Order: sequence, then structure tokens, then C-alpha cells
Amino acid sequence: MKFLARGAEAELYRDRLHDRAVAEKIRIKKKYRIQEIDLPLRRSRTRGEASLLHSAKEACVACPTVYEIGDFELKLGFIDGVMLRDLVRKSSRAQLRKMLREVGMGLARLHEADIVHGDFTTANVMVSEGKVFFIDFGLGGFSKDAEEKAVDVLLMKKSLGNNAAYKLFLSGYRSYKGYPRVMSQLAEIEKRGRYVVRSWAGA
Ligand SMILES: Nc1ncnc2c1ncn2[C@@H]1O[C@H](COP(=O)(O)OP(=O)(O)O)[C@@H](O)[C@H]1O
Ligand SMILES: [Mg+2]
Repeated sequence: MKFLARGAEAELYRDRLHDRAVAEKIRIKKKYRIQEIDLPLRRSRTRGEASLLHSAKEACVACPTVYEIGDFELKLGFIDGVMLRDLVRKSSRAQLRKMLREVGMGLARLHEADIVHGDFTTANVMVSEGKVFFIDFGLGGFSKDAEEKAVDVLLMKKSLGNNAAYKLFLSGYRSYKGYPRVMSQLAEIEKRGRYVVRSWAGA
């Protein structure tokens, strides 16, 4: 196993399963959480992530295939790509337009299926051969709530960091039927300057 990355809650290793390259995502123990909370939380996020990855695929959103589910670890299809975060500054305008539009259309399909990502940032979108993949659904869930959907949009807006990129993203997200409702909720959140991010609520 080759070490790949350490995220906010997991360690990622590259491994092989039969003849496939996989990314093994292992949710590691958090010492600051008492064990009675840490164990069930890691277990439920692992299961929840596997289940949402399946649902996202059903909604035609590109994301890793789930090959194995353990208590605290998942074996996922390996995406041979880079984080969107590392591409935003490097790519040409034309490449950015295509990628960010695709990111927006992907979020539109997720929200159409009432799936909320919960941590929708440029670090949780990967790009491989120009194709966009959504990863890291551990904080996601099912919701019809416009506020939760608006928080997905807001986190992407903040992590993109510039208005031109955000507009390109919105050009894809606009395909979502609930777009006007989510955008007015977003304006509301920005006006009051306060919102709940799933990672703060449960971590
Ligand atoms: N399926 C995958 N294929 C390749 N790399 C991945 C895959 N999943 C995650 N990674 C890499 O590992 C990093 C952390 O994974 P992530 O699921 O976001 O964990 P965390 O929940 O800790 O943030 C990602 O930013 C990405 O670089
Ligand atoms: Mg992540």
C-alpha cells in the first residue's frame, strides 16, 4: 500500500484489488472525541459515504466506484487525477469553463436527487483527463432543504475564491430546477452571515 493523502478525517492509500487500482480510505481515530462517539461516528460516516456514492452514481454523477465496505474503511475506484483546487489557477479559461460548468451540472444532478454533499469544496472534486469526479461524501445526506443545498453552493463559491470561476460554476448549476429557490436561500444566508456546515455540526 502506498500512502496517498491525509484528509480532514481519513488517510488514503493506493492499493490493488484483483487487477484494479483502488484508493483505500481509512477513517482514523480522533483523540479529541470520546470513544463512545468516535467509533459510531466513524462507522456511520463510512457506511453513509458508501451509500451516497451509490446514490450519486444512480443520479449520473461521476464518482468513485465502491468495491469494499469495512467498518471504518472503503475500497474505492482509484481516480488518477488531481484536485480541482490545484487546477483552478493553472488552467486556461477554456479548460476552466468546461470543468466548472461540469462541476455545476454535477451538483445540479445531485440536488435534483435530493442529495446534499455536505463538504462541497475544490478539494473534494477531482479531475482526471478533463473529466470531473465528486469525492468525499462522508458528511453528505439526503435532504430536500434549500438551505442545505445553498450551503453546498456557498462552500464551492468560497473555495473557488474568485467571481469569474463562481460564475462558470453557476452556468452549470443553473440547470437545476430548484436553482431560483436555492439562490434566494443563499442570498438570505449571506445577508444573515451565519450558516451551519455539516462538518462543524457533527465533528
Ligand atoms: N478515489 C480516489 N482516487 C484517488 N485519490 C483519492 C480518492 N479519494 C480520495 N483521494 C485523495 O485523497 C484525498 C482525501 O480524500 P477525502 O475522501 O477527501 O478524505 P477526507 O474526508 O479526509 O477529506 C483527496 O483530496 C484526494 O487527493
Ligand atoms: Mg476531503
